[in-house]
Amino acid sequence: MAIKLKGTGRALPDRVVTNEELVALVDTSDEWIRERTGIGSRHVSTGETVADLAVAAAKKALEDAGATGDEVELILVASCSSEMALPCVACQVQSAIGAHKAVAFDLNAACSGFLFAMHTADAYMASGIYHNALVIGAEVLSKIVNWEDRGTCILFGDGAGAAYFAKDPESQTPLPYVQRSDGTKGQVLACGQHAHKNAFYEGEDNLQYVTMDGREVFRFATRQVPEAILELLGKTALEPDDIDCYVLHQANRRIIESIAKRLQVDIAKFPSNVERVGNTSSASIPILLDELRKEGRIKPGMKVVLSGFGAGLTYGACLLELS
Ligand code: COA
Repeated sequence: MAIKLKGTGRALPDRVVTNEELVALVDTSDEWIRERTGIGSRHVSTGETVADLAVAAAKKALEDAGATGDEVELILVASCSSEMALPCVACQVQSAIGAHKAVAFDLNAACSGFLFAMHTADAYMASGIYHNALVIGAEVLSKIVNWEDRGTCILFGDGAGAAYFAKDPESQTPLPYVQRSDGTKGQVLACGQHAHKNAFYEGEDNLQYVTMDGREVFRFATRQVPEAILELLGKTALEPDDIDCYVLHQANRRIIESIAKRLQVDIAKFPSNVERVGNTSSASIPILLDELRKEGRIKPGMKVVLSGFGAGLTYGACLLELS
């Protein structure tokens, strides 16, 4: 495989919001939220921006890898909630870590964003264009969520995760990947954050928040993700049970359980932090990856499947062999 995972890091806002606190905002209960989603609390920004969290996670990933900013050749940030349209978050990270020779840009594929960014980095490295990459997922979803909508505000959290990859000089082979988008289902999970407003527009300032057809998203994830994972493993000689660990996008415990069941793999191979972190969209996979590495639950020699799914609709899976 062309790339090796060298280091990971994560950053979460200090403020933790429990389900009980949400009861004061919307008609819900801790019991309902836990039963339907597995979520007990989430971290919420009290001022931290997407760039603040991305920079903090990036610094930890570089430290973990024993690398410095001036070595970094490519910085990709996956995000759908940056406060700044310009400059992109990746350029803000570049400046903060002193990665003067890096190329930096953002990419938005919602909750599949980290995976799609990783695939992009992998393709650049396999083709020999860059020799390393810092891939980051960072979100402050709390500002695009409607805190009066009990169907969505209970689900999401803020945070960032980062992974530093280096090219394996002895391999040109890209990681096994499955990556899909279905734009015809875009309205199932949408957010019109940037209102239509210019000097010639006479309509209302129609700032919008996240809207979601929860049941449709649930059906999509529980059908498409196991299929994508099986298609991925079909590209290798591996069976679902040969995988040591499945690091899935942390949207909902019931979705993860359903995917494990469809693959007929022990749920113990599907670690989850959704109870403490909620759904952090593009940040969720690298946050969990970092937790698992730091806790020693994933180690060199292990085969790890990463899988993301979300708005777009987008979804995908890849196989990472840790060394
Ligand atoms: N607290 C209490 N009741 C709630 C509620 C909340 N936070 N949110 C919705 N309800 C109510 C609904 O209004 C509905 O009431 P009604 O029967 O009186 O109309 C009832 O609970 C059932 O709603 P429904 O939407 O059918 O619930 P559900 O079992 O599908 O669970 C989700 C809702 C959102 C938890 C579930 O659909 C889900 O997890 N979907 C996937 C969402 C997701 O992961 N999105 C991100 C993907 S990246």
